[in-house]
Amino acid sequence: MAVHLSGLVKSYGDVHAVRGVDLDIAPGEVVALLGPNGAGKSTTVDMLLGLARPDQGTVALFGAEPRQAVAQGHVGAMLQAGSLLPDASVGELVAMFAALHRAPLPVEEALERAGIADLADRPTGKLSGGQAQRVRFALAVVPDPVLLVLDEPTVGMDVESRRAFWAAMRNLTAAGRTVLFATHYLDEADDYADRVVLMRSGRIIADGTAAAIKNQVSGRRIGARLPGADEARLRALPGVFDVAVRGDRVTLHCTDADAALRALLSAYEQARDLEVRSVDLEDAVVALTSAADDQGTAAPTDPTHSRNDQESRS
Ligand SMILES: Nc1ncnc2c1ncn2[C@@H]1O[C@H](COP(=O)(O)OP(=O)(O)O)[C@@H](O)[C@H]1O
Ligand SMILES: [Mg+2]
Repeated sequence: MAVHLSGLVKSYGDVHAVRGVDLDIAPGEVVALLGPNGAGKSTTVDMLLGLARPDQGTVALFGAEPRQAVAQGHVGAMLQAGSLLPDASVGELVAMFAALHRAPLPVEEALERAGIADLADRPTGKLSGGQAQRVRFALAVVPDPVLLVLDEPTVGMDVESRRAFWAAMRNLTAAGRTVLFATHYLDEADDYADRVVLMRSGRIIADGTAAAIKNQVSGRRIGARLPGADEARLRALPGVFDVAVRGDRVTLHCTDADAALRALLSAYEQARDLEVRSVDLEDAVVALTSAADDQGTAAPTDPTHSRNDQESRS
């Protein structure tokens, strides 16, 4: 196994950040650790890298202790926090980092792989947020690691930088590297991971391909524009098990979308803009994260749109 996490538990005071995580990642897998803010992703990543000590449980990376695997240059990491030395140039910083490792990539190659060859002479204090993230990525790849661990790598990047970043990642993963990346962007998990591990409240609540996770939440959705719809009446239609009304838009969650659609049209001939679609990853994640909420806290209604990862949940 590239990564073997067994029974990991970590609390900060009375905050149970991680409450029993078991996870095995085989060499070559690209795994997304997906979950809303406060789910325990960063705490898991920190324990995996040996930066935080688990209260219980064990971590092995390629059969070794995390610190040993990191020291041997097997692991490259990109963390959420951590400032870059502001007076050094990007090239100098990457060179300093390379010097800590036994068999690093040439600096130019690390910059190339991170898509920032043109930034080599730029002082690190003069970078945009997205550029700084890509410098962190260059630092993660310079040891030429077989395992890359990335905590929310695209936070603060604009659309263009995100695309460039994932293109660079694709090149690395095509070469067979193992990747674990934490994210709260569903589209990134859906587009770039072979496997999605969904966390909520310190636990893994789903683990599989994006398609398998979608299948865990069965059924189809009917969307329609229907001003003044009566929610209770919609809920009572055949084939419908749940209803969401947002302004003029209604969404029917169906066990039998054909029956529901016929019933909807005969009950409401004014229904417009009808669409029937299968469950997407967002539907599945919302359903699974609400169902697994065992702390009595409100489930997030939209985990994709929350950007501030530093805030704590109380
Ligand atoms: N150093 C810390 N001290 C106290 N609480 C922490 C610390 N780090 C994380 N937490 C808390 O642990 C929980 C999990 O946090 P974290 O692992 O950062 O989640 P995520 O990365 O999924 O957003 C949150 O409630 C967070 O506030
Ligand atoms: Mg985090």
